Amino acid sequence: MMKKTLALVTGGIGGIGSVICKELSQKGHQVIAGYHPAEEAQAKSKLKEWQASGASIHIVSGDVASFASCAEMAKTIQKDFGTVQILVNCAGITRDKTLKKMTEEDWHAVLNVDLNSLFNVTKQFVDGMTDSGFGRVINISSVNGKKGQFGQTNYSAAKAGVHGFTMALAQEVARKGVTVNSVSPGYTETPMTKAIPADISQQIIAQIPVGRMAQPEEIAYVVGFLADQRAGYITGVNISANGGLFISF
Ligand code: CAA
Repeated sequence: MMKKTLALVTGGIGGIGSVICKELSQKGHQVIAGYHPAEEAQAKSKLKEWQASGASIHIVSGDVASFASCAEMAKTIQKDFGTVQILVNCAGITRDKTLKKMTEEDWHAVLNVDLNSLFNVTKQFVDGMTDSGFGRVINISSVNGKKGQFGQTNYSAAKAGVHGFTMALAQEVARKGVTVNSVSPGYTETPMTKAIPADISQQIIAQIPVGRMAQPEEIAYVVGFLADQRAGYITGVNISANGGLFISF
């Protein structure tokens, strides 16, 4: 039987994050969806939707690009809910441009939200996990952090960095019952991929052996699996769910 634990999902009202929240809630965890302070209205509307469906999901704001904001968020969570034992680092953005056109701001915005966030957020919660002798850190990377993607030097660099963070931290906390893994989704039907120009999107889908984009539920399923208590011997790995777009071992 699964022990009921407290889970925090950053980017928790986003295309993949919100479905991860539902998956973890259905598995019996108490779930907090983290959201950017500028997305208060969207977060409240998502909360209403969840409440109506009977899901045990709460919302807490925090800017994952800011260490100070994450420290505040962690204080609020500890006071209102307790110790986070499952952390899903899912917040992410894109600013797709060829390097020729990319500005310094485009570079730093993506590196801050997609990679520096792992330090800013995980640092707040990992000691609580090691102290309690159980924890799951699941970092959402991307197929493009493994294969690179035209127009995504910033995003591909950040998502590749997620794997380095994952492999290093996994070794540091393994003895304390905490696993650290990454999940690399392929192209998934969310607002992020809807922003890709239609002709380019068609070209990408044509290269996916499965012949379609993923549904967010297919990514959330992998996260739910890694979060399970029974997955305690899986650490420092990456699980790809990319429809065969990049096949590697
Ligand atoms: N490989 C090689 N050449 C390519 C190319 C590719 N994949 N795509 C475009 N080109 C070429 C074009 O044919 C064109 O050539 P010419 O100049 O000779 O005509 C040139 O590159 C276009 O260059 P531009 O600088 O003018 O590019 P653009 O401004 O038209 O568009 C872009 C650049 C915005 C990055 C656009 O290519 C794009 O949106 N690409 C999709 C990027 C992508 O996959 N994003 C994923 C978002 S979802 C996500 O990230 C989630 C996840 O984890 C998977």
